[in-house]
Amino acid sequence: MLPIDLTGRRALVAGVADDAGFGFAIAKALAEAGATVCVGTWPPALNIFRTLIERGKIDESRKLSNGQLLEFEKIYPLDAAFDTLDDMPEDLRANKRYKDVGDPSVEGLAKQMRDDFGDDSLDILVHSLANGPEVKKALLDTSRRGYLEAVSVSAYSLVSMIARLGPLMRHGGSVVSLTYMASERVIPGYGGGMSSAKAALESDTRTLAFEAGRRFGVRVNTISAGPLASRAASAIGIIEKMIGYVAKNAPLQDHLSAHEVGNVAAFLGSPLASGITGSTVYVDKGYHAMGMAVDPSS
Ligand SMILES: NC(=O)c1ccc[n+]([C@@H]2O[C@H](COP(=O)([O-])OP(=O)(O)OC[C@H]3O[C@@H](n4cnc5c(N)ncnc54)[C@H](O)[C@@H]3O)[C@@H](O)[C@H]2O)c1
Repeated sequence: MLPIDLTGRRALVAGVADDAGFGFAIAKALAEAGATVCVGTWPPALNIFRTLIERGKIDESRKLSNGQLLEFEKIYPLDAAFDTLDDMPEDLRANKRYKDVGDPSVEGLAKQMRDDFGDDSLDILVHSLANGPEVKKALLDTSRRGYLEAVSVSAYSLVSMIARLGPLMRHGGSVVSLTYMASERVIPGYGGGMSSAKAALESDTRTLAFEAGRRFGVRVNTISAGPLASRAASAIGIIEKMIGYVAKNAPLQDHLSAHEVGNVAAFLGSPLASGITGSTVYVDKGYHAMGMAVDPSS
């Protein structure tokens, strides 16, 4: 047996607000492997997520193979658009979804985790969040503001999180983010600067692997996942088309499940992957390897 054993390790998965996306599946796979899991949740989705859990609405998805329910050690508010509380505009801080959550900035999250668990308390950091307010617009029609916001929330946030949470990470730790192949090939409809944000995320993965490897002794990788009808992806408006196209044209034709991505994230987070850093790992049923559509009419 060569097990993925994460017993005694603590993970933080940033970008979980329901049971439909990659973040939840990754949290579950990490827990299956024995890790303790904290999550970071965007304040506008925080109450809904807590209510889903309290009312048992996602108990079926929370069920682990040992029959127990996936428990989150902590659910932290996180708005990855802001590095510090001072960066947040006054009106947002006063907003009803924000005013009672404390400091949801990246620095606030790091401080809270240090208060809760101390230094040397984090082994696995997962960045599973993205937002592009103009994602439905072609890049040519995207405003400077929309573009910069997509890159800020979806790519710079990884830099900010490693800078602030890296000091809490134990030697040998692992950082994993989620990317999409629109970074390297044109996916019509994936607009608003989101393709640019994913390209930045992948490039930064290499640079951060070097810098965070030397500074904190941790590995940094990104998973390039195939399309999944998560909440965020459904907002793009073309997700069913993307899934259908991949099913017709990828080497493996069954639909990608979030569970498959969760398992790869658990592997990357484990000592079994101790030699892998700076990599973009494709979990897309092999679609990235294709150079021609099988069915030109699709
Ligand atoms: N679904 C796909 O087809 C697909 C494919 C490849 C990569 N990805 C990537 O996977 C990651 C997870 O997305 P998903 O598709 O599982 O959807 P999801 O809706 O489960 O996750 C996105 C999360 O980002 C959070 N978020 C948005 N803005 C935020 C902010 N400012 N601060 C903190 N959190 C914020 C949302 O609340 C949500 O929980 C993203 O990076 C996405 O780009 C998705």
